[in-house]
Amino acid sequence: MVESKGDWAANSQNTGYADTVMQAVSLSGKLYREGLGMIASENIVSPMVQKIVSSDLHGRYAEGLPYKRYYQGCGGFDTIEELGLELAKEVFSAPFANIQSTSGTVSNIAALKALAKPGDQITAVSTADGGHISHARMGAVGLRDLNLSTYPWDEERMEPDIDASADLIRELKPKIALFGQSVFLFPTPLRELADAAHEVGSTVMYDGAHVLGLIAGGCFQDPLREGADVMTGSSHKTFPGPQGGFILSSSEDEKFQRRLNNAVFPGTCSSYHLHHVAGKVVALAEFKEYGQKLSENTVANAKAFASALAAEGFDVLAESRGYTASHQVLTRHGELDSGAGAKAAQLLEDAGIITNMNMLPGDTKAMTPSGLRLGVQELTRVGMGTSEMEEVANFYARVLIKSEDPAMVKQDVRDFKSQYHTIRYCFNEDDASGYPL
Ligand SMILES: Cc1ncc(COP(=O)(O)O)c(C=O)c1O
Repeated sequence: MVESKGDWAANSQNTGYADTVMQAVSLSGKLYREGLGMIASENIVSPMVQKIVSSDLHGRYAEGLPYKRYYQGCGGFDTIEELGLELAKEVFSAPFANIQSTSGTVSNIAALKALAKPGDQITAVSTADGGHISHARMGAVGLRDLNLSTYPWDEERMEPDIDASADLIRELKPKIALFGQSVFLFPTPLRELADAAHEVGSTVMYDGAHVLGLIAGGCFQDPLREGADVMTGSSHKTFPGPQGGFILSSSEDEKFQRRLNNAVFPGTCSSYHLHHVAGKVVALAEFKEYGQKLSENTVANAKAFASALAAEGFDVLAESRGYTASHQVLTRHGELDSGAGAKAAQLLEDAGIITNMNMLPGDTKAMTPSGLRLGVQELTRVGMGTSEMEEVANFYARVLIKSEDPAMVKQDVRDFKSQYHTIRYCFNEDDASGYPL
């Protein structure tokens, strides 16, 4: 078994790098098959999507848009992308969709390129308050060389302070007013803030990377009807597709739509990973059939999990607002900046529960935060419901409150998880024997 980098190297000499990689891949698969994947940005894809992402399309190119290509051989893919655009517009109720971008970050880079030029002003949520690195100078905002100002934050409500943020927007008149977060418990008060932004001529951009599936399932908020001109997002978090991105817009203006398309190709991508685009199209078709139920169950599970953790004695954030309205739950495990979140995450991994440490309001150091950000979307996808959330919360308590040996808990986690090896909410569910390699 491959245990450490040192072992990998030794193993490589005997069996070759490829064998070592195959072993490490199956080790990673085993971890998730036998454990509880609870990182809020992750998910698992359906068996049909698994097949498509390893198809011949992986090696192909199709620069351009359907039926307007620079390469021959795109006939089959034209059909796929055309169908995907139709489905994306339907699933997100959007007059415009681009399904080419290769990730949420690439969607953001492309949107910032289309909507602003270097030196322009942008307003966004700070990373300390849950904004994504692509909203920061260290990420896409800096890459586009935009001037960043961040919204005043309401820590109690875990959202931008409405009046102070509207004042900031009116004062700065940003080219782009960007909303949305990576730590995303509650809908953004978008109507109020989009009104202020439109008043001063800003374009309203909403990054729905985390909550895209919940939005499409009608379970979170409806940004394109609450004032967002452009919505970006990932196709693999609560939207249960393969890794990739979406760009959607409420605009019917063809010139504006062309700017968005051009910002993806040729702006940020040459090959845009056709196998993943085809996988997104099947995921959209599956979502049309099962997405509403999946989203409803995801949010119900997050609420149930938060309540169960609180009942076990954990410090769960945002109690006054019912803990969460998304797929995420935040927990505090010690003093600010103490690293208690990192310690908790390691103990949980030792018990087969995969999470990530996260900064909470007041933390200042990303590597030694006090909290955890937990997501229930993957457990929901394999068929768990609210009663299972209580069992999961009990595993957390055994490790982090009762200080049981994580290795003992891991055996119980594996037994529990063995009942949930079928991927749900997808076509051919019966064939969904499950987990990839
Ligand atoms: C708000 C937000 N935007 C963008 C991204 C980036 O998405 P991707 O990993 O698809 O590039 C993330 C990632 O978690 C995110 O939380």
